[in-house]
Amino acid sequence: MSDDKRDDVLLKVENLSMFFGKGDMVKKAVNDVSFEVRKGEVFGLVGESGCGKTTTGRTIIKLYDATSGNVWFDGKRIVAGTKSYYDEIKAQKARRKELVKNGGTQEQIAACDEKIAQMRAEIRKAKYDHNHCDDDYRKDEKKRIEEKYQELLKDAAPEEEAKLRKQMRRELRVAAHSKLVTQIQMIYQDPVASLDPRMTVREIISEGLIIQGIRDKKYLQDQVYEMLDTVGLVHEHADRYPHEFSGGQRQRIGIARSVVMKPKLIIADEPISALDVSIRAQVINLLNELRETMGMTILFIAHDLSVVKYFSDRIGVMYFGNLVEMTDSDELFRHPLHPYTRSLLSAIPLPDPDTEKNRVRIRYNPLLDHEKTDEEPQLREVCPGHFVRCTEKEFLAYRKQVSE
Ligand SMILES: Nc1ncnc2c1ncn2[C@@H]1O[C@H](COP(=O)(O)OP(=O)(O)O)[C@@H](O)[C@H]1O
Ligand SMILES: [Mg+2]
Repeated sequence: MSDDKRDDVLLKVENLSMFFGKGDMVKKAVNDVSFEVRKGEVFGLVGESGCGKTTTGRTIIKLYDATSGNVWFDGKRIVAGTKSYYDEIKAQKARRKELVKNGGTQEQIAACDEKIAQMRAEIRKAKYDHNHCDDDYRKDEKKRIEEKYQELLKDAAPEEEAKLRKQMRRELRVAAHSKLVTQIQMIYQDPVASLDPRMTVREIISEGLIIQGIRDKKYLQDQVYEMLDTVGLVHEHADRYPHEFSGGQRQRIGIARSVVMKPKLIIADEPISALDVSIRAQVINLLNELRETMGMTILFIAHDLSVVKYFSDRIGVMYFGNLVEMTDSDELFRHPLHPYTRSLLSAIPLPDPDTEKNRVRIRYNPLLDHEKTDEEPQLREVCPGHFVRCTEKEFLAYRKQVSE
């Protein structure tokens, strides 16, 4: 990737793992997953139910404490797991013991000690970033707001000044309560379960702002109405309860609740899976509009490729906790390489009845589709921007395949 593209990265997920349970019972829901989402793009994360998509989303927004790996958001590390560092310390300690026993040199032993000290320092840094990223963010925000208003107040007419000062106070109050992760908002699969039935639409939409310390009733009202307009509902809906709405309308309320926070990133976790087929397109269109008008970046999670096909700029395919393929949307559909991606593609119904009749469903069987080997497959770049999880031998075969 060129350097200018790197500047554009809003979310960087780096070797992220999320394991549940311990010992023999450990469930590797997300295992060493890496991808980047660039500003303004829609990144589709696809894979069958249970492959770890939701867990990936929830770990990014810190609902879980990551086992290993990092998440960087807007250049700041917001998630940092430590298991990989502890594993390295354990390995180095074992190596050191071997060296002492078998007469290793002083230099070799010192190298182990140095590595252990280095890992301990990494653990301290990781814990600090994971727990304190919000404090640093608040300080930065406060400074940014004060500087912005200093500049504005310099040239302000006297009658404007009071208004500006009021705005500044509101922004500072929000900054004092703000968390970096509120700039990432999630939209959930099930609009029924995710909306509190005892709250009115107005309360649901304004809740996040109130938590941020906003008390100005007029401002809250304006925000609620603006959001209802944005998502295609009407102002009269504000004082109704979720059960009075259809599934599609409830999902619009869910979207309004997220968008009101002016997030930089939306994680949409199967937002249309629970909806009637007839209204799915409407919700997709709404998300597309938001992306264009508000410059929103979207991590779009889905279990089948047909949904993300037209909507995503790039797609990552997950299988059992691993990312197995990642590339541009067009490239993925034209040149799918990993056998699991091919099987997902073969599952998409075709619009033409004649070709649909002859569509052959390919099933993925990891035991048959890969040669038996002890080598742990890795995500490798087969051609620019096209990554596949494979062994060295498969990598060479894929390279040959794409050059033909
Ligand atoms: N809180 C949890 N505790 C234990 N296992 C979990 C938990 N959440 C998810 N899992 C397991 O992790 C795997 C991935 O789940 P999930 O991320 O929900 O998949 P997806 O969203 O792709 O359907 C599943 O096997 C699931 O049972
Ligand atoms: Mg899920």
